[in-house]
Formats: sequence, C-alpha cells, structure tokens
Amino acid sequence: MKFFIDTANLEQIKEAQALGVLDGVTTNPSLMAKEGITGKDNILKHYVAICNIVNGDVSAEVIATDFDGMVREGEALADLHPQIVVKLPMIADGIKACKYFTDKGIRVNMTLVFSAGQALLAAKAGATYVSPFIGRLDDISTDGLNLISEIRLIYDNYGYETEILAASVRHTMHIIDCAKLGADVMTGPLSAIMGLLKHPLTDIGLAQFLADYKKGN
Ligand code: G3P
Repeated sequence: MKFFIDTANLEQIKEAQALGVLDGVTTNPSLMAKEGITGKDNILKHYVAICNIVNGDVSAEVIATDFDGMVREGEALADLHPQIVVKLPMIADGIKACKYFTDKGIRVNMTLVFSAGQALLAAKAGATYVSPFIGRLDDISTDGLNLISEIRLIYDNYGYETEILAASVRHTMHIIDCAKLGADVMTGPLSAIMGLLKHPLTDIGLAQFLADYKKGN
C-alpha cells in the first residue's frame, strides 16, 4: 500500500519523508490556502518545493473547470517536474481532459470521486489514480469504506490498472480499513500516519526492557 500525505505543509511533508514511509503527496486548493500559499506563481513554486522533498508522485490540481482551461493548466503543471500528477475534478470536461492527458503520457489523478460510477468512468478514461473521498461520505452518513470495496470489485472484474487512492482519510482506522479492502494508496494527514505507531504495550515493553538492562549494567 502506498502512503501519501495530504497536505501542503512543507514541515509535515519533511517529517513524513524522514520516517521513510512516504510515497507521495496530494494537495488541493484548500490545503494550499491553509498554508497561506496564494497566487499562481507562488503555488507553482510550492509544487516544485514539494517535489524536491519527496521521491514519489505529487498531485497538483487544476482550477479551470472547462476542457481548454484544464489542458492549459495541466500542461503547465506537468512541465514543472516529472513527479507531478495532474489532478482533475470528476466532471465531464475533467474526464475529457483525463483522456487527453493519458493519451499524451501525462498521469492524472481524478479527484472529488463519490460513487462507483464515477470511478468506472475515471478508469475508462485512463486515470493513473482515482480519489474516492471517504471521510466526506462518512460526514453525510454514507459508508465511505463501502465505496472503496465497490471500486476494488469493479476494477478487479475488468483488470483496470487505475490505482484506488483513498482520499479524505481522517484517522488511523481509515488507513487500516482501506488496507484491508485493498486500496492501492491512501492519502491522509500526518497525525493518521503517526497514529499507526502507537500502542501502549510497545511503550510498556520498551520501558521494561530498558529497566531490566539497567539492573544488570
Ligand atoms: O484528499 C482529499 C482531501 O484533501 C479532502 O480531505 O478531510 O477535507 O475531506 P477532507
């Protein structure tokens, strides 16, 4: 399972990278704004800064909602760095742009996916990644994890190579459940990744080992 971090915060990206388990980064306009990164030039520079920290894929989202605008913005994003994956919204022009980029060998992450039908279209258009937002489905009393199972089944039925990138992951159990269900990738906050580490018996056991070592030395 690949681990992506879902943030535009460079310090958090560095911390996850230093842990040695980071496979990539996802961002979106809201995450950029949260870090105070505004204006086209600053945003583009920030993507390059992220690419220079991590070894893996970095999703960079277009703002345009029409085909021509998405193509223009997506090509500029893809030109920034070989690690960039163009992130497109799940609307009709987004699917058209996905096919356009895929035919040109530019990788795409289809975002804002909330149904199995949307995920099927993304795979048919050749997306490298599809991003079902599980946390936002949970927010409206709909089972986000069930969507991961449905997409896994459909993709396996037909051998689609599009990777299921579980997004809007909010906590550690989301990561574990997505791993059980066969999501290829998860993207979540640093807190959810670090939460995987925690177990009181690990802390108690380590304290005991150190105390016993000290007795004999
Ligand atoms: O990866 C998608 C993500 O950025 C949305 O997460 O927590 O705002 O639903 P959230």
